[in-house]
Formats: sequence, C-alpha cells, structure tokens
Amino acid sequence: MGVVGCLGYTGLELIRILVRHPGVLIKVVTLREPLQRFRDDKVFTMFPELSSCRVSTIEDADFRDCSVVFFATPHGIAMKWAPKLLSIGVRVIDLSADFRFKNKETFEGFYGLKHHSPKLLHESVYGLPEINRDKLTNANLVAMPGCYPTAVILGLLPLLERNIIEEDNVIADCKSGISGAGRSSKVSSLFGETYESFKAYGTNGHRHKPEICEVAQTIIEKNKIRSDNQNLKTQFDIIFIPHLIPMFRGIFATLYVKLKSDSYIDKLTKIYTDKYKKEKFIKLLEGDKVPNTSLVKGSNEVHISIVKVSKKKEGLGSSAVILVAEDNLVKGAAGQAVQVMNTMLNFEEEEGLKGLFWSP
Ligand SMILES: NC(=O)c1ccc[n+]([C@@H]2O[C@H](COP(=O)([O-])OP(=O)(O)OC[C@H]3O[C@@H](n4cnc5c(N)ncnc54)[C@H](OP(=O)(O)O)[C@@H]3O)[C@@H](O)[C@H]2O)c1
Repeated sequence: MGVVGCLGYTGLELIRILVRHPGVLIKVVTLREPLQRFRDDKVFTMFPELSSCRVSTIEDADFRDCSVVFFATPHGIAMKWAPKLLSIGVRVIDLSADFRFKNKETFEGFYGLKHHSPKLLHESVYGLPEINRDKLTNANLVAMPGCYPTAVILGLLPLLERNIIEEDNVIADCKSGISGAGRSSKVSSLFGETYESFKAYGTNGHRHKPEICEVAQTIIEKNKIRSDNQNLKTQFDIIFIPHLIPMFRGIFATLYVKLKSDSYIDKLTKIYTDKYKKEKFIKLLEGDKVPNTSLVKGSNEVHISIVKVSKKKEGLGSSAVILVAEDNLVKGAAGQAVQVMNTMLNFEEEEGLKGLFWSP
C-alpha cells in the first residue's frame, strides 16, 4: 500500500488503521518535506511497523509494488497523479473531492479548479459501500465520500430507497469537530478561536451540498425505475447548514424529513432495520437512545436513531427526525477508505476495522 499525504489528519488515521490490518503492508508514504518532519512528528516512534517503508515526496515515490495507493491530500492532487498510477496497474482510493462528481462543471464550479483528468470522472466509483458495494469489487479508482455526505446519505438512505419522503423538503442541521478542517494551520482552527465557540459556516453553499444532492438523486432514480415507474421529475433538494463545535472529532447530523403519507410513520423502525440489519458498521439505536459522538470516537461505526413526529390529528402530516453520529476521520474518511479497500481486495469488510473505538 501507499499513502500520499501521510502527515495530515486522515493520512495519520489511515496509518493507524492500516498497521493493524493483518493483510496489509505499507510500502510507501509521501509527504512534502521528506524525513525531517516525519522524524519531528515521531511517526516512526508511533508506528514502528513503518520502519521498513519508503518515505519520499510524491514526485520521487516509486509506487510500482503497491496494489492500492490512498490519497489523503487536498483536492487537486489526486487528479494529477491518478492517471499515472492507473496506467501502471495501481488502484487509487482518493479521500479528496477530485473524483466524486460525474460532471466536471460541478466540480470546477464548487472547488474553483480546472479538472485535470475529466475522462476519469466516469470511471470512478463513489466509495460508500452501503450503496456501491458491487461496483467497488472491480473498481480501479474510488472517490471517497465527504465526511458530511457520509452521515447525511446513510441517515436518509432507507427513506430515499423507499421513496417515502418529500425529497425536495429535507433539512440537514450538521455539526463537526475541528479536525474536519484538516491539520494545516488556519486562524479559524486555532484553539483560541474554537474553544467555547459554536458557529455555522458555509451558509452560502457548502461544497458538500452538491455531493449530497447528486448521490441522493442517483439513489432515488435507481429505485423509482426499479419499483414503480413514478414520474422522475422531482429533484432532491436539501437545506444543509454545517456548524463547527469545540471538539476535535465527530460529526452529528440532525435530519428533518416530511413523510409522503402518515401511514409511514409506524413503519419507520422496520424500514431502517430491514435496510441495515446486515450492515456491519451501522448501528440502529432502539427506544429512546440517541447517538453520541463520543460513542463512535475512533470507530468505523455510524449510530442512527429515529424520532417520529406524528401530527395526524392536526392534519399537518407526519415528519421524522433522523439523528446520526460518526467519527469524521474514521467512517467519514480513513476507516471507510479501508472498508472500501477490503472490498476491492476481497478481504472481509471488517478486516482491520474491529476494536478501533476508544473511550472516553
Ligand atoms: N478531515 C476530515 O474529517 C476529512 C474527512 C473526509 C475527507 N477529507 C478529505 O481528505 C483529504 C485530506 O484531509 P485532511 O483533513 O487529512 O487534511 P490535512 O490534515 O490538511 O492533510 C493534508 C495532507 O496533504 C498534504 N498536502 C497538502 N498539499 C499538498 C500538495 N500540494 N502536494 C502533496 N501533498 C500535499 C499535506 O502535506 P503536509 O503535511 O506537507 O502539509 C498533508 O499531509 C482532503 O481532501 C479532505 O477534504 C477530510
């Protein structure tokens, strides 16, 4: 394996997970300032398993003996290097947004960058195993979902597949810990700026909104065609407001949906249970239990609970509120990337991903 951008938050998280994986050897890691920073950050001390791996810049790296290379870099990097790696038979799992959209204009519009490899957009598979497991087995290029889209899509998936919510009337009120912004120093990420502070951001159009909409629309259309031939014109839409909260890890998504019929309200628990009963990393909380970011810390699990809001008597129709918690660096990034790698390489999907949770 190779990890590009090994000293960022998701790169280090990938290493933490991959060194415990029984079927994996990390052969190459890259960083921009070779070795000295690697030594300063005590990565060899933290991960003695890396003592035999090659450390270099991406320009000097030799990836030929890697079956998979992970990109844990900002957008704009993987799109330049993926064609070269694919041409020598190395499969690529990209944690950035470079290959998440099918349409290059959507990427360029929201990320402000010309796409370097637009032809690969149609080859890439969106790396959410719960919707694309079959496609991942033979994928050579995988675009890992954003951290918020993972939480929002997994929270909505059973409803979108059944076509039982007003799909243009969804509200996602989401919170993230500061690690979601990455490790590079920015004033807005400083302890002094975030401690005892709570704020919304990206209110004029966060980059994860078009990703959520594109994936949700694909799920709706696939299932409408398969089930009941309903008119395909309704476009999924969501009010998505992210917030920054004073903690390091974790995403909490509160998703408000309107049901198309009051009769669905009593079926919600069964719908979620049927959908997720075989999913190893999705845990539905029963009764009045609610997700808590501290209970998914370090783990690849997503915790979901359902709040049913019946307004039948007032004739207002029924709603539901779906609560979702994940660790943005694990199921929202590195853990999910390893889950995808396991599928691509025919390992058990949970291999290397058990027992990652820590508490408190
Ligand atoms: N943080 C999250 O919760 C999260 C979740 C899902 C997806 N993602 C995505 O994952 C990617 C990495 O995020 P992160 O949070 O790990 O970021 P990060 O902590 O800022 O780390 C980024 C890494 O990329 C390297 N890098 C930056 N510019 C580079 C360049 N021009 N060429 C080569 N390497 C470069 C950095 O190297 P140096 O160490 O030399 O600075 C660093 O190792 C991003 O695309 C992000 O959107 C992040």
